[in-house]
Amino acid sequence: MENIKELQKQLTLFDEAYEKGNPLISDTEYEKRYSELQELEQKTGTVDPNSPTQTIAYTKVDGLETVKHTIPMLSLDKANDYHNLKKWFSQVRDNVLVQPKLDGLTIVLHYQDGKLVDAVTRGNGIEGERVLHTVNTVVNLPKEVLFAGNLEIRGEVYIPFDEFNKINTNGEYTNPRAMAAGMIRRHDASSAKGLRIQIFDLVNAEDQVFVTDREQLEFLANQGLPVVQTTMFADFDKITTYCTQWQEKLRQEVPYPIDGMVLKFDRLEIRERLGFTAKFPRWGMAFKFPSQEEFTYLREVTWQVGKSGQITPVAVFDPIEIDGVTINRATLHNKQFILDQDIRIGDRIVVARANDVIPKVIRAVVEARAEELTLPEIPTQCPSCGQDVWVEGSNPHIQCLNPFCKAQIIEKIIHYCSRDAMDIEGMGEVNVRLLFELGFIRDPADLYELHTKAEALQDLEGFGKTKVKKIIEGIEKTKDIPFSRLLFALAIPGVGRTTAQAIVKKFPTLESLKNASKEELAIVDGVGSVTAQSIWFYFQGPQTKTMLNRLVNAGINTEELVAETKDTLTGKTFVLTGTMSLPRAEIEAIIKQSGGKVSGSVSSKTSFLVAAPGETGTTKYQKAVDLGVSIISESQLMEMLL
Ligand code: IVH
Repeated sequence: MENIKELQKQLTLFDEAYEKGNPLISDTEYEKRYSELQELEQKTGTVDPNSPTQTIAYTKVDGLETVKHTIPMLSLDKANDYHNLKKWFSQVRDNVLVQPKLDGLTIVLHYQDGKLVDAVTRGNGIEGERVLHTVNTVVNLPKEVLFAGNLEIRGEVYIPFDEFNKINTNGEYTNPRAMAAGMIRRHDASSAKGLRIQIFDLVNAEDQVFVTDREQLEFLANQGLPVVQTTMFADFDKITTYCTQWQEKLRQEVPYPIDGMVLKFDRLEIRERLGFTAKFPRWGMAFKFPSQEEFTYLREVTWQVGKSGQITPVAVFDPIEIDGVTINRATLHNKQFILDQDIRIGDRIVVARANDVIPKVIRAVVEARAEELTLPEIPTQCPSCGQDVWVEGSNPHIQCLNPFCKAQIIEKIIHYCSRDAMDIEGMGEVNVRLLFELGFIRDPADLYELHTKAEALQDLEGFGKTKVKKIIEGIEKTKDIPFSRLLFALAIPGVGRTTAQAIVKKFPTLESLKNASKEELAIVDGVGSVTAQSIWFYFQGPQTKTMLNRLVNAGINTEELVAETKDTLTGKTFVLTGTMSLPRAEIEAIIKQSGGKVSGSVSSKTSFLVAAPGETGTTKYQKAVDLGVSIISESQLMEMLL
């Protein structure tokens, strides 16, 4: 009994913190304790109506009006694995609608005489808060619909990632969900920005009779309402394949946060038959994706020197598993992040990792700090070469300016050989480090002399004749690579792939670029005065000059080959989906070279979706179909260039 009370108290606390957007524990940990409480309650047979298993957490914001829901707004039961999902499905085995579960907050909307007249948060499910003023700022929500009768619908209000990144510059919010929850409940609607909605439920449409949910959603879509992407299945294996596809791929591609999938029986008669528990409808189920955020303890901060001399803090923490991978390190971004977030050694911290994204520390759970903790030491000397670091007032990073700093040189060579730069097979990070330590390479120009040391290389453990031949051939191939890629490969601070491409349009040869003035550089697209200064400074360095001369003598291409820009694609915007025969960066460059634009997501402004074979299931593909955007293959794109 004591245990039940304690768990109830804990979970209530966690619910409240979560609802405010500052969770104290991870979703996985929460669910573990929640099930524990549920089991204990079931065993003892005493269910307290105020237990967190029976209620929905809700903290009122002062000044917002409370509104009672016409029909209680329940939550959904969760399944964390396919076994439990199958149990749910097997009770009926009928058509199931599957939708992404948007990570925002539910809003109930009321339309009357075709006009949006009310919007209420879920609250505790019985009553919520009137938020019509902020819901009116939701850009993709029509404030008027054709249907003139009373209409009550539900949807999820959320913040797309790009808006989150744009708005959250001071790190006020820990994630888009917290931002959406904060914005929607603001008193001043003019400060609510970036909100979007997707509708997932029709509660009531006066005098309309429907047999299935699909008909209801179609009706809503015909009103011009943005209905959540919905697919229907009757076969459980197809459901799991689809959910896995979302979890592993689509989730990364859509521009908004998703934390799982929602499954609902389609036939309304089945829904009626199954009914509700105190908290959930039995006809629906949420399938939660594994958490992409975990909580752990920060043990140490180490400092890593990057290719351009930036010194980045790295958090070392107690190992955690996120998304199926165990990690004990994550970036802490820069020294300013540590100071702004007040992150201390020993703190409980939140770490996030999405598929193939570098793990990062999100924040410290300051509320969990039981004792006085100390801030990590911020280095005054480079951890690699020991030279005094450079700290500039407004720059959030600290920097090592020593061109002979070993860590920097190694990182520069690793970058030079990497896929997006010179793409030298067999020269990944491990081999670059090894060949550096053994004295074979000291800068990128040394790569072009490796062929003279082939015999010595072959004797190294794990190398051998074939491998060395491959490496040397790979290095040889880099001699014909476009100048823009060489420029990117040189790791000049501030010169990324796109900037390099813009630079070579004005300065198509190494010779012309070396002689460019800071003023000439600063007017290139995407190059401000800071990058202009950095490029100019780079070419002044005596060791840079020697290294570049050696590259030229080795026969490397220093001219941009495609000087003639064609206008065949001017005014056209392309979106790419799937794996093409050429690297994506190259296709993008080709499109831009011909005057076209490339965008990351499909919208009404997209002219063409270039889809790799077999990509018909992707969100981009479906959206293109929905919007009537032309879908072409890679070879059709190439034909357009002629
Ligand atoms: S259907 C009776 N569909 O997830 C509740 N909910 O965990 C029926 N959500 O409260 C909800 N996307 O805030 C449904 N496609 C979707 C959803 C969705 C997100 C949220 C919603 C709901 C919660 C349940």
